[in-house]
Amino acid sequence: MSETVRVLISEDDVDKKINEIGAMISRDYAGKNVHLICILKGGVFFMCELAKRITVPVSMDFMKVSSYGSGTESSGIIKIDKDLDEAIEGKDVLIVEDIVDSGRTLSSLVKMLGDRKPNSIKICTLLDKPERRVVHVDVDYTCFTIPDEFVVGYGLDYAQKYRNLPYIGVVEL
Ligand code: IMP
Ligand code: MG
Repeated sequence: MSETVRVLISEDDVDKKINEIGAMISRDYAGKNVHLICILKGGVFFMCELAKRITVPVSMDFMKVSSYGSGTESSGIIKIDKDLDEAIEGKDVLIVEDIVDSGRTLSSLVKMLGDRKPNSIKICTLLDKPERRVVHVDVDYTCFTIPDEFVVGYGLDYAQKYRNLPYIGVVEL
């Protein structure tokens, strides 16, 4: 079976938007250090590009979570597949995600990380699909709000394919 990918957001538009969000984060965290937490694997391309545009001191850590559930629906009960290497107590944490869909993964994650006593905890996402939201999450920085379509590229996959596309596309079967 083969599918095609239609460009939804061009590489140039993603690049410009990450510049803007990076500048915004640099202003908001002036005088502080920001501790970026990348949610693997999808958040990796976005975090690298974002980190390069932040002008306050940056540190980084990585976490991989999966949610129990059937098929494409996440359940909101998350399992840590790879935990952070460092403690986040007292740190200004910024979670970097590829996409907020139902919101279940992020709302559980924020609660879990909040228990570790960071100084602050905020969320930055490349994409948001608000029509799909089931659980409320406060997203602090959003690059693009998109309609309810299945997207790939810039870290996002379809059956582990297309993460390396430098733009965001829609899979057409
Ligand atoms: P949530 O718990 O439903 O918000 O799950 C969000 C996760 O589902 C994201 O981190 C992605 O890994 C995955 N996801 C949701 N929508 C898409 C999509 O359109 N393309 C690729 N992955 C997606
Ligand atoms: Mg993800």
